[in-house]
Amino acid sequence: MCGIVGYVGFRPASAVILDGLKRLEYRGYDSAGLAVKANGRLEVLKRAGKLSVLAEALASHALPGSLGVGHTRWATHGAPTDPNAHPHLTEKGDIAVIHNGIIENYLPLKEGLLARGHTFSSETDSEVLAHLIEEKYRGDLAEAVRLALSEAYGAYALVVAHRDHEEIVVARTVSPLVIGLGEGENFVASDVPALLPYTRRVIFLHDGDMAIVTREGVAVTDLAGNSVEREVVMVDWSLEAAEKGGYPHYMLKEIYEQPRVLENTLGGRLQEAGVTLGLGLEPTRYDKVHIVACGTAYYAAWVGKYLLEALARVPVEIEVASEYRYRDPVVDGKTLAICISQSGETIDTLEAIREAKRKGAGTLGVINAKGSSITREVDDTLYIHAGPEIGVASTKAYIAMLAAMAMLAVWMGRAKGTLEEKAVRELLAEMRRLPRLVEETLEQRPHIAHIAEKYHQAQDYLFLGRHIQAPTAYEGALKLKEISYIHAEAYPAGEMKHGPIALIDERLPVVVLATHSPFYEKTVSNIQEVRARGGRVIAVATEGDTEVGKFAQDVIYVPKVHPLLAPVVSVVPLQLLAYETAVCLGRDVDQPRNLAKSVTVE
Ligand code: M6R
Repeated sequence: MCGIVGYVGFRPASAVILDGLKRLEYRGYDSAGLAVKANGRLEVLKRAGKLSVLAEALASHALPGSLGVGHTRWATHGAPTDPNAHPHLTEKGDIAVIHNGIIENYLPLKEGLLARGHTFSSETDSEVLAHLIEEKYRGDLAEAVRLALSEAYGAYALVVAHRDHEEIVVARTVSPLVIGLGEGENFVASDVPALLPYTRRVIFLHDGDMAIVTREGVAVTDLAGNSVEREVVMVDWSLEAAEKGGYPHYMLKEIYEQPRVLENTLGGRLQEAGVTLGLGLEPTRYDKVHIVACGTAYYAAWVGKYLLEALARVPVEIEVASEYRYRDPVVDGKTLAICISQSGETIDTLEAIREAKRKGAGTLGVINAKGSSITREVDDTLYIHAGPEIGVASTKAYIAMLAAMAMLAVWMGRAKGTLEEKAVRELLAEMRRLPRLVEETLEQRPHIAHIAEKYHQAQDYLFLGRHIQAPTAYEGALKLKEISYIHAEAYPAGEMKHGPIALIDERLPVVVLATHSPFYEKTVSNIQEVRARGGRVIAVATEGDTEVGKFAQDVIYVPKVHPLLAPVVSVVPLQLLAYETAVCLGRDVDQPRNLAKSVTVE
């Protein structure tokens, strides 16, 4: 939610900020703005709309100066308009404030400020911070920020500049902030990709941290002003990994990266007859598992449930994190709570895992982003190594989550003694084939593009899958909704006859996951039921299958793999179907309407 970039150094700040914001635009893209300090003034430029609108305005209105702050917004309070865009400037123009998050008590604060004579120029909660800081300011900017924050509560990544100071003051609680360290220059950003052209040396701020960032250095304190030590981390993401590399969209690039991602996720972890994960947790201590996650990561949790139950024979409950955190779940010291998250910053997931921890559970994060908030709170982290994922619709992170959950299930199964060595060898051999199988599946793209073209005018889609392919159906429907805006529903195939069958007519494309599995015949029956009611079936079937083609209008063949690993291969055609459909409809694939990449507000 919202991208932040701050710069103090020797380069033109506006260029560094614009470049950084472009790399963070996936975090929010309804309006953007920046403030640059020059000749004792803060010059501000803000525009509703995509970052390109701000870039155009900048082209004809240069903002010279080598200290500045910028922002791309994902609206919470107040519509995406010029005045609501950040930075927010005080009436005298001396302080510029950028804020990501929500100030929950902004209404009483605003009332007080209005009563004391302040006038507001936006409808945002964030603007109260600018006025509060102004009131507290007595020549020490950090002290003013500290005092202002002692009156505000909620979530914030806050970045503040003052026209009389050669420094940027930042603070975070809940919303992420990372500082990039350079030579004679330093950077602030809400996510690492903005920093990659300039530095790999970063400090991830923790909740309750503040920092004063100058050209010469960075001083980190707590909110009371006490100095705190924070580790300098070297990030290993390459700049190329965070760029489009010739693809028209990040999403397509990330879909094509999936074979390499699987190699990274699995690499070095698969042994001859087991899995090495480098985890400290002791699987035999736990008699049940809870998995919490949101969106695509939740579907990975669902696949994880099937894997863990099948291979480690441990009962697994999965739940959408935003529900789990408020439901008073039954958790004890024998519960292993796992959370899955690409960003490691999703607030619902973070709060859900905190809730499990408070109740005594052991905690494990299955996470992509190194150093992210969740990794600092869980007992142990299993990194999925998908590299930076920029496309708002998650693809490569999903496939990496599935591979990680498969390894975790094998590892727990071995530790608990529920898995024979022969079965492990078989599974591991299949896991080693996954990168190649996904590579082969990608070759289906022209055929899938043709299917997408055929059905792109459909108003609705239905996705069906059984057992471990039910989550694949849900993930396929989510991808299609997110980027094409076509209404799509998913059901476990056996549920169709309990209601959704009423939707079927000759206008409804029904995507059915009918890959090789013990439930294959039942799924073929479902296809026949759809056909009998005039529905149009797009089936995903296993290469060599001769049955499904008799009933489905269109079949996408995927290579044969162990049924427990089928979701890894089968999701690829669904990602491509969503992508090609969105392209046919002229949608903005990487920045679909209303969405943001990581959701750090409730
Ligand atoms: O960063 P996370 O994995 O925690 O994000 C969870 C969801 O917000 C995310 O998967 C979302 O559903 C994506 N837009 C799916 O494509």
